[in-house]
Amino acid sequence: MYQLNLNWQTFLPQYWQKRPTVIRGAFANFVDPISPDTLAGLAMEPELDSRIVARQGNTWLVAHGPFESYDHWGEQDWSLLVQAVDHWYEPVNALVAPFRELPNWRLDDLMISYSLPGGGVGPHLDQYDVFIIQGLGRRRWRVGEKGQHRQHTPHPDLLQIDPFEPIIDVELNPGDMLYIPPGFPHDGHALEPSLNYSVGFRAPSGRELLCSFADHLLDHELGGQRYQDPELQARAHPGQIQPAELAGLRQLMLAQLQDETGFASWLASFLSQARHELDEQPVEPPYRPDELLTGLNEQGLRRQGGVRCLYLQETPQQLFILGERIEVPAEGAALARLLADEPAPSQAALLTACQNPALCQWLTNLVNRGWWYFPTQDDEE
Ligand code: SIN
Ligand code: CO
Repeated sequence: MYQLNLNWQTFLPQYWQKRPTVIRGAFANFVDPISPDTLAGLAMEPELDSRIVARQGNTWLVAHGPFESYDHWGEQDWSLLVQAVDHWYEPVNALVAPFRELPNWRLDDLMISYSLPGGGVGPHLDQYDVFIIQGLGRRRWRVGEKGQHRQHTPHPDLLQIDPFEPIIDVELNPGDMLYIPPGFPHDGHALEPSLNYSVGFRAPSGRELLCSFADHLLDHELGGQRYQDPELQARAHPGQIQPAELAGLRQLMLAQLQDETGFASWLASFLSQARHELDEQPVEPPYRPDELLTGLNEQGLRRQGGVRCLYLQETPQQLFILGERIEVPAEGAALARLLADEPAPSQAALLTACQNPALCQWLTNLVNRGWWYFPTQDDEE
């Protein structure tokens, strides 16, 4: 269990999306949930997205995982960065848990970096809200003011910016945390072999939303209505698009978005789509409901890391999981909410819900998809 010393009520209005800040001792007596060796091992797996960024004098190198060995990288000036470790290595999820006060749909992943002294990715910008927690070691972080920062690529796979004037310049010790809103330049430089945990929150752009909405219209053969102009009049300037025509065409597009039910359901399914590769393994052979009950008598379930599960306040009888809309059986709304709100729903609550055979069958189907599972000792490490 990680206890985060942060008052969300004061932090959110003051800093969230507004100003970077340092939270000293955000986690007291910090214990890393993963070792550098385990992280290095995960970066040897092809399913995980990992890279090494190294600096040799003025030259930057980038290598992409999976890695076979780390021997030739030396003892300084490089970092190993592994994305979405929370999707693959359950023990690190304990560190994400305190951030569940923020909406799940905003959470992207937990990226973990291991840096040798001098290691870092150089000055750069991110389009994320990120909480960077210092684990093992010490790292110097500089954060600059938002503004016009010229971007350049010292390596084709590395986007950096020119040096910036810091407004924050700190050495982070284990348990300290830095919050950086999108667009604030930053640069981390390890002073000692360091582990850093980046809890990243990404918001969709208008472009991403519109692209996905357009796909939704195509998939469901919606939006086929054409513009109509029964009042059309002859005109002197046939090359011109008139303001009323522009307004009418825009209205035709907006009408698609104004279909309340279709919009909400598309949006929830879009927001529940996977953002990274997942460890999604259907149960083989599948559980029968009585077997699920036997398991539940032993312990509760845990949601597989990276499984995004959301619901809309207006329609609690539907769950949206990894882009799929799942109908919830009658009397199942409370169970559905529990599954979406709690990464590790309690044994007692699940057992109570499963007294209803229809709900037990439904939950069994979800577990058989590989979306929830019974944790083993290894998950608790
Ligand atoms: C890192 O841990 O080195 C990178 C984190 C970041 O700057 O986004
Ligand atoms: Co960054």
